[in-house]
Amino acid sequence: MSWTPASWRDKPAAQLPDYPDADALKRVEAELAAKPPLVFAGEARRLRRQLADVAAGKAFLLQGGDCAESFKEFSADNVRDTFRVILQMAVILTFAAAKPVVKVGRIAGQFTKPRSNPIETQNGVELPSYRGDSVNDMAFEPEARRPDPQRLIRSYEQSAATINLLRAFASGGFADLGNVHQWTLEFVKDSPASDRYTELAGRISEALAFMRACGVTGDAARSLESVDFYTSHEALHLPFEEALTRRDSTGDAWLATSAHMLWIGERSRQPDGAHVEFASGVMNPIGIKCGPTMEPDDLFPVLDKLNPDNEAGRIILISRMGADRVRERLPHLVKAVEGEGRSVIWSCDPMHGNTVKTDSGYKTRDFDRVLKELEGFMQAVAGEGAYPGGVHFEMTGRDVTECVGGAKALTEADLSSRYHTHCDPRLNADQALDMAFRIAEALTAARTGTSRAA
Ligand code: TRP
Ligand code: MN
Repeated sequence: MSWTPASWRDKPAAQLPDYPDADALKRVEAELAAKPPLVFAGEARRLRRQLADVAAGKAFLLQGGDCAESFKEFSADNVRDTFRVILQMAVILTFAAAKPVVKVGRIAGQFTKPRSNPIETQNGVELPSYRGDSVNDMAFEPEARRPDPQRLIRSYEQSAATINLLRAFASGGFADLGNVHQWTLEFVKDSPASDRYTELAGRISEALAFMRACGVTGDAARSLESVDFYTSHEALHLPFEEALTRRDSTGDAWLATSAHMLWIGERSRQPDGAHVEFASGVMNPIGIKCGPTMEPDDLFPVLDKLNPDNEAGRIILISRMGADRVRERLPHLVKAVEGEGRSVIWSCDPMHGNTVKTDSGYKTRDFDRVLKELEGFMQAVAGEGAYPGGVHFEMTGRDVTECVGGAKALTEADLSSRYHTHCDPRLNADQALDMAFRIAEALTAARTGTSRAA
């Protein structure tokens, strides 16, 4: 009955890799268990407090990053570019919502992927599916596809290096609002989204200069110089998560030290399954992906287990219904949850329900469909009297061509030029900025609408 970091082992576990050498995995788990934590309990508590503000409608949650991080594409520039796009989106949203934006990267640990089929078949040859760089290699060869536990060590080390950089970027000067003009990436400079951003940045710079002239200094002014930035990934690889789970210094709470926030995917959220069991005992904020088939009766047992005391800031429901289904499928879920007085954050992942394959074989997502799901989400949640409090994106700071549409109107024919993703198609920096402006418009409308009514 009682929870331990290992109690998930007595439950059915979906989506875990089959390691041919169980002893090798055991040795790696022991090695990981001796490594330093990547995040600290005080940080996770602070995030929970900030998320409680989101749940209360006083702040907004922005979560974003790669679908999957990879060993090959790891570099300081890459991390910096993702970080700077998130900063730009955060500026746009902070301005529009006139509320603090809680910034959470899908980064520094997003290495394991759920798969719909454990086996991939190509020309009659069957091999284990690629499950992310923490498990195996993408190349379709027997050796590459064999799950190798050493990859967990490499994932840990890359996560540690990534979070080290993020901490430096967040508080070492880079994120200072005085740099708001400098965050624009070169390749975005000639786009409509960038013109809009430049204008906004100009207004912010003026406001900062005005405040300084008025003598606003001290602690209040110092908060303009840095950001709180948090990390998150899907809590899928339970042996890895278990090895990094530690008691906090007070001794009475457990923390998954692999990231500040974890989420449980649509394929592993069974109330009696291993992933929910694991998450139920750690104090991190927990996201739950909600797909179009989710019913209140599926969700309530999970909420009972993950948040028995109904604490604000613990649960983020991440809706991923698809543009065509969100208006039909989400309202009754919102109504049921709100009707029972459950404290949750309603966040929208407009990416995963809108993936299509082109005739030429590329997985892509259409900017307009992503936007349509966001709008449907906002209306569905607000329509039930709840607060649409967050967004969750797959995006990158690189100049990729993976999603079609957006301000530069990328077409299917453009996809082949810079299609780099390890997994799902991401918004590029330009599309991400454009998207932030569209959300900002919806938030501004909601804000001014409310103030008119008041
Ligand atoms: N610290 C504040 C915040 O995180 C203000 C701030 C500083 C900021 N740098 C930022 C906001 C960059 C957005 C982006 O909200
Ligand atoms: Mn994905």
